[in-house]
Amino acid sequence: MPSQKPFLKWPGGKYRIIDRIQDHLTEGNRLVEPFIGSGAVFLNSNYDNYLLADTNPDLINLYKTLQKNGQKFINYCKPYFSDANNQASIYYEYRTLFNETKDVRLKSALFIYLNRHCYNGLCRYNSKHEFNSPFGRYKKPYFPEKEMQAFHLASQNAEFIHASFVETMQKIKKGDVVYCDPPYTPLSKTAYFTDYFSGGFDWQEQITLANWAEKLSKQGIPVLISNHDTQNTRRLYKGVGARTKGFKVRRNISCDTKNRNKIGEIFAVFQAAV
Ligand SMILES: C[S@@+](CC[C@H](N)C(=O)[O-])C[C@H]1O[C@@H](n2cnc3c(N)ncnc32)[C@H](O)[C@@H]1O
Repeated sequence: MPSQKPFLKWPGGKYRIIDRIQDHLTEGNRLVEPFIGSGAVFLNSNYDNYLLADTNPDLINLYKTLQKNGQKFINYCKPYFSDANNQASIYYEYRTLFNETKDVRLKSALFIYLNRHCYNGLCRYNSKHEFNSPFGRYKKPYFPEKEMQAFHLASQNAEFIHASFVETMQKIKKGDVVYCDPPYTPLSKTAYFTDYFSGGFDWQEQITLANWAEKLSKQGIPVLISNHDTQNTRRLYKGVGARTKGFKVRRNISCDTKNRNKIGEIFAVFQAAV
């Protein structure tokens, strides 16, 4: 079966490695994703229920709006994708409007417009939580109507929450299967990227996440974590009893074309203790 593409471009999106992830997800009643991003894994799995969370409030509001309003919301978003709107001056006007408006439907539609018109699909905010990615200069940005329709359908048995991963972990119960795709730990000390909604996701948070995964697996709940394959991540996950598997992946979003090489990724598999 061909896999379902997410409607948003998302740095770190897992669309390209869906098959590998599916191989490690066991059966269960509900899939929990504390770091939903573009939802590539949720869209390509088949659980009865989903708990999908992220710390980006704009993303969660957009998903809730699409979940509730379906085609009506899709029709509302479509006109933003016109030739006239594909120019820097309009892009920056809409970016300002996005940052100022309190209207959730408008903000959600503009989020899709910005995602498809900005540079490399970069979702970057400043310290005031204002979206500040620059204009992307694409010939004809694609309006992802079919992908939005598929998301709307798939989301009918999903609960979306705006929450940090610790809050989400506290809601997990027996019968759940957990996939964690946290912001990547940097490959080098200079590679730190600050996203003000993720609060910079530092090493301490990677440790907290690994400890939660160990705790849940001991309670009989299977957890899969993906990350960059580094000495530190290997040591961390092995230290808390996970089985690790490394592999290479081609990167799709990078500001630097020289970096579009294959990068090492790691899976940490925490099996449920029965
Ligand atoms: C690597 S992306 C997930 C990509 C997703 N698997 C996909 O295929 O698109 C990481 C996500 O974690 C979110 N995030 C960052 N810090 C977080 C935190 N402390 N708790 C929950 N989500 C967080 C980011 O907003 C981002 O959407």
